[in-house]
Amino acid sequence: MASPRGRRVVLGITGGIAAYKAPELVRQLRAAGAEVRAVLSQSAARFVAVGALTAVGAEVVDDEEMGMLHIDLARWADIVLIAPATAHLLARLAIGAADDLLTTLCLATEAPICLAPAMNRVMWEHPATRANHTQLLERGVLFVGPDEGPQACGENGPGRMSQPAEIAAFLEHLWGEEGRLRGVRAVVTAGPTYEALDPARGLTNRSSGKMGYAVAAALAEQGAQVLLVSGPTGLTAPPGVRRVLVTSAIEMREVVLAHRDGMRLFVGAAAVADYRPETVSAQKLKKQAGTLTITFVRNPDIVAEVASWTPRPFTVGFAAETEELERHARTKLEKKGLDLVIANPIGEPGAGFGEDHNRVTLIDKDRTVAWTAAPKTEIARQIVMEIIKRLPRDTHA
Ligand code: CTP
Repeated sequence: MASPRGRRVVLGITGGIAAYKAPELVRQLRAAGAEVRAVLSQSAARFVAVGALTAVGAEVVDDEEMGMLHIDLARWADIVLIAPATAHLLARLAIGAADDLLTTLCLATEAPICLAPAMNRVMWEHPATRANHTQLLERGVLFVGPDEGPQACGENGPGRMSQPAEIAAFLEHLWGEEGRLRGVRAVVTAGPTYEALDPARGLTNRSSGKMGYAVAAALAEQGAQVLLVSGPTGLTAPPGVRRVLVTSAIEMREVVLAHRDGMRLFVGAAAVADYRPETVSAQKLKKQAGTLTITFVRNPDIVAEVASWTPRPFTVGFAAETEELERHARTKLEKKGLDLVIANPIGEPGAGFGEDHNRVTLIDKDRTVAWTAAPKTEIARQIVMEIIKRLPRDTHA
C-alpha cells in the first residue's frame, strides 16, 4: 500500500486542450507502478490519440462497448482520476448524469474520484462552476488544481490543468506514507450549533469550526473515510471529506446516530449548545413590557452518548476553558468516558475561537501534555498522529 505500485487507476479524459498531456500522465502513473485503464469522452478524441495512450501502456476502454462495462470498471478502480476535467464534466457529475461510460462509472463506483480541472478562468470562476465545485467537494470528490497562469485561450488566471507530475505526486501522497487510517470510518462534529427561539432568533456561540474542519481534513489525509457533521460555519468541506450540515444539537445527534454502524473513531470538536429553549415559537416573539424569561432545557451530550455505546468508537472530545484548564478538561475525560481530550484556553489573544492558531493540551487517562501554539491545520495533524498511536490495533491498517 506504500505507493501507486499495483494500484488500479481508471483515467477519464474529457475534451479540453489539456488532454494532450494525458499520455505523459499515463507514463508517470505507469512509471510509478500503477495500472491504467483510460476512458475517453467523445470530445476528448479530438485532442488526444488512442495510439498515444496505448503506446505508453494504458488500456483504452471503448465507450461503444458499454454493456456492463461501467460496473466492471467501477469495481476494478482503486481511484477514478479525471484529467482534464472540463466545466461540462463538473456539471454532469454534480447533477449525477449518466450519459456516457465515464459519468456512468462515476455514479457506479465506490472508489474515490479525483478531478484535475482545466478550463478558461472565467468558466472556472463562473457561479455555476463554483456551485458545482462546492457540491462535488461536499460529496468528498478530490481535486488537484487547477493551477494559475497563462492559458491556451490567451488569458491569465486559475484554470490550467495541474502538471502530470503534480497529479501523479498527489496520488502517491494519497497512497503513500499518508494512509495509516485507510478503511477507518470517522465521524467529526464541528462548528457551533444554533438553537432556535423563534423563526428569527436563536442561541449560538463563537465557534468558527476551523479546528474541527482541520481535524477532518487531517484524518482524510491519512486515508480515513470522514463524515463531517457541521453546524453553521462559513467554511467549505475539506478535500475528500463528506459533509452533512446541521443546525441544532438535536439534528447533530441524529446524524451522528445514523452513522453509528462501523464507526471506528469519533471526534467531537463541535461547540454544541448545552441548552436549548424549551419551546420554539412558531411566530416571531413580540416585545412586551418588563423582563423576558426564557426556560432552557438540556441538550443531549453527543460525545458522552457515543462514548457509552458498546462497541464504541475511539472517542475524542474537546474542552474550551477559561480557567483551571487541566482540572476541568480531566473531569470531562472522566465524566464523559472519553479516550482523549484536547483542551484549549479561551480568551488568549491569537488563539482559540475564530483564530487560525491554537494552543492545546492533550489529556488522556495517563498523561497531560501541553503543546506550543501552532496553526490549527498543524495541530490537527499532530492530534491525528496521537489518535493513530492510541487507536486499538484492529481499527487501523
Ligand atoms: N459536546 C457534545 N454534546 C453536547 C455538549 C458538548 O458532544 N451537548 C462535546 C463537545 O463537542 C466537546 C465536549 O463535549 O467535545 C465539550 O464538553 P462540554 O462539557 O460541553 O464543554 P462545555 O460546554 O464547555 O462544558 P462546561 O460548560 O461544563 O464547561
